[in-house]
Amino acid sequence: MLLTLRSILDIAEAKNIAIAAFNVTTLEGIEAVLSAAEELDQPVILQFANAAHGGYIALDVIGPIMVDMAERAKVPVCVHLDHGDNFAEIECALEMGFTSVMYDGSVLPYAENVANTRAVVELAEAYGASVEAEIGSMGREEYGSVGGGDEEAVESCYTDPDQAAAFVKATGVDALACSFGTVHGIYLKAPKLDIERIGVIREKTGVPVVMHGGSGISDEDFRKCIEQGVRKINFYTYAAKFAGDAVREKIAAAEGNVYFHDIAVWARESMKQTYIDTIRVFSNLK
Ligand code: 13P
Repeated sequence: MLLTLRSILDIAEAKNIAIAAFNVTTLEGIEAVLSAAEELDQPVILQFANAAHGGYIALDVIGPIMVDMAERAKVPVCVHLDHGDNFAEIECALEMGFTSVMYDGSVLPYAENVANTRAVVELAEAYGASVEAEIGSMGREEYGSVGGGDEEAVESCYTDPDQAAAFVKATGVDALACSFGTVHGIYLKAPKLDIERIGVIREKTGVPVVMHGGSGISDEDFRKCIEQGVRKINFYTYAAKFAGDAVREKIAAAEGNVYFHDIAVWARESMKQTYIDTIRVFSNLK
């Protein structure tokens, strides 16, 4: 069942949980996300980051498959464009039936980010879709690579709650990606999160907060962030890495030929398990 980001985050708000937003780059990834969500009977967000992963598979190939499989899923699913940074790509996703898009103008001057985000909100409204935008920066490293960066540089990009409130008022976005200590990719040092900032941003903006860079955050920190108002958590790197590790082990243990269809299944099973473990934490399940 296909839902907008706004509707799926309303479910999260009512239950005091966060919805997992998993990036997909393959058919196996989509199957793993949906089967994990169905097994736990939980809503989920299926997202594609063309800016980071368009080199592995094209948006116009994976996009229609994501929408079709989400429509046929037994749980609520939002299909979302992650880190859209140009209008053509955003329009393309909306035309395919994505129910939500992120416009990432976080590297632009504030006024330009506001103007572009407002234009994306107007465009998305015409399709009945939701919009996530970003204020502050989580680093531009590709997901699935080593991120981290030095602590001072990360802290200087933390989201300012007053600016976030003005941004939401001026743009009308449905959810806001904020910087409070997480970054994309694999952490070089254990992340130190400014968890109180989330509550202040939530209070001042009135919209759900989105956490990017979910891989490498402890279960305890996830729970604290959810308590403060995080309602969508982006997660990809660890699922891809653990699947790679699982495939490496299987290949090392295999005797004789290794067929690619077996590799695809090993990866899918590993990803499904990571998604089940992750959704359990975000949904506060036993
Ligand atoms: P990770 O790289 O930490 O999994 O985060 C993914 C993400 O935030 C995509 O937007």
